Amino acid sequence: MEFSFDINQLFPERISILDQTLEAGRKTAGRPDLQENVATVLDELGRASAKAQQLTAPITSASKLQLQKHQLYLMKDGEANGGRGAVVGFLKVGYKKLFLLDRQGAHVEAEPLCILDFYIAENRQRHGYGLELFNFMLQHKHVEPALMAFDRPSPKFLSFLAKHYNLTQSIPQVNNFVVFEGFFFDKSAGQ
Ligand code: ACO
Repeated sequence: MEFSFDINQLFPERISILDQTLEAGRKTAGRPDLQENVATVLDELGRASAKAQQLTAPITSASKLQLQKHQLYLMKDGEANGGRGAVVGFLKVGYKKLFLLDRQGAHVEAEPLCILDFYIAENRQRHGYGLELFNFMLQHKHVEPALMAFDRPSPKFLSFLAKHYNLTQSIPQVNNFVVFEGFFFDKSAGQ
């Protein structure tokens, strides 16, 4: 995903972590012109992700990120577009208070880290970028995939989770979140 402005100036690292401040690095702090470009990138990514998932409206945008306590991992290819860089994709996570059903169908209140949105540019899918981004987030958050919840995972994402993390056995829920076998493991260990 290419832009008319310099992606490498906005995002110095291969993977940048963005939050409510929309500051991608020290350079963008106190620079409204650069923050505007960050917002353009986030809005474009949100629209592309929504289109890929056939959603009626984006779940990611600059203004939504400013309002919510989420974290967004943004990956770039610094060498693309004649050295100006291109955006490869993003992964958005956040903690959510959820009412879940355990294996026995009992209600459990939990506040897991959730995968809220995930997108890799169409022409780069199935090249391992998603895995690199997801593994970066796991290390940064010190979390295991089985202990996370997934908001309305798409068929491609379910296939991704099965392939890379062996997550295949989901526990039926009454909301849009999916959790897998192992999510309740710690809590039921002493029973
Ligand atoms: N069809 C089926 N499975 C796919 C596809 C596809 N077109 N693309 C990726 N996958 C899955 C497969 O398991 C694939 O393994 P395989 O090629 O051996 O079948 C595996 O992902 C490949 O892993 P990566 O290359 O690391 O994944 P990628 O970089 O493509 O990122 C992602 C995965 C983010 C799901 C990407 O395909 C994408 O952006 N898809 C469109 C948007 C989307 O569905 N996002 C998830 C939304 S749900 C949520 O965010 C909670």
